[in-house]
Amino acid sequence: MEQLKTINALRECLAVKTKAEIKIALVPTMGNLHKGHLALVKKAQSLADYVVVSIFVNPTQFVVGEDFENYPRTLERDLDYLRHLNVDLVFIPNILEIYPDNVQITTEVIVPELDAIYCGEYRPGHFKGVATVVCKLFNIIQPDIAVFGEKDYQQLLVIRSLVKNLNLPIRIYSVPTFRETDGLAVSSRNKYLSLSERQTAPLLFKAIIDVADSIKRGESDYENLEKNSISSLMTAGFRPEYFSICDSRTLKKPVNQELVIMASAWLGKARLIDNITL
Ligand code: PAF
Repeated sequence: MEQLKTINALRECLAVKTKAEIKIALVPTMGNLHKGHLALVKKAQSLADYVVVSIFVNPTQFVVGEDFENYPRTLERDLDYLRHLNVDLVFIPNILEIYPDNVQITTEVIVPELDAIYCGEYRPGHFKGVATVVCKLFNIIQPDIAVFGEKDYQQLLVIRSLVKNLNLPIRIYSVPTFRETDGLAVSSRNKYLSLSERQTAPLLFKAIIDVADSIKRGESDYENLEKNSISSLMTAGFRPEYFSICDSRTLKKPVNQELVIMASAWLGKARLIDNITL
């Protein structure tokens, strides 16, 4: 497995593959890999000949009050996982490689229609940071395809939008959320849960499933379903940010039956997000 830290070295290595018409897939990550990331890598391997995983803790997607410095960095363990999966190349740039001037004064990519709603409302500037770094990684690596998880549903839509609107020749694939046996979505943030919070945490997914079942049974008062879910989550000890039934392509008010049910809620020190599409 190649491990490269500079854009020059990476481009040199990938130029050979591109010339040989080898199909390249990218799985962008911030490291601290878990089973969910490994599922992304496996999907990428099923779709392409050569798989690049990037590990970069992106400072511009951390918003005021979030702890960039203390974000878990587990590089050696991550590399072990990737080696076992036979990943071809790991790109591990430092901050200056990605933001050569200054993280504050840099060209930015914004997807305005998705930037300030739902997670964007509670994490202002987060999606601008994600869109900017993903666009940079796309330009640096120039993959044929890129793979993202469906757990970060709004992020997935942001990326699909930027690829479409900036005419990038990259196909975006998504992988269903990887779950623990009790339904909790696997996430790096789950480690912030205490033992008793860990028992409560699957109730977020359960609340989403219950709403999906009600809709499938014909319930159409979405506002009432949202309100009831928020209050039952509060009763269980969550501090919900939003619980919303929306159009799965735009995140606007639903116009047909293509729905996503999305929720974000704090439980203790962990901010949990989850969703399902119908
Ligand atoms: O989902 C993530 O881990 C990050 O937001 C991403 C896509 C790697 C961009 O930094």
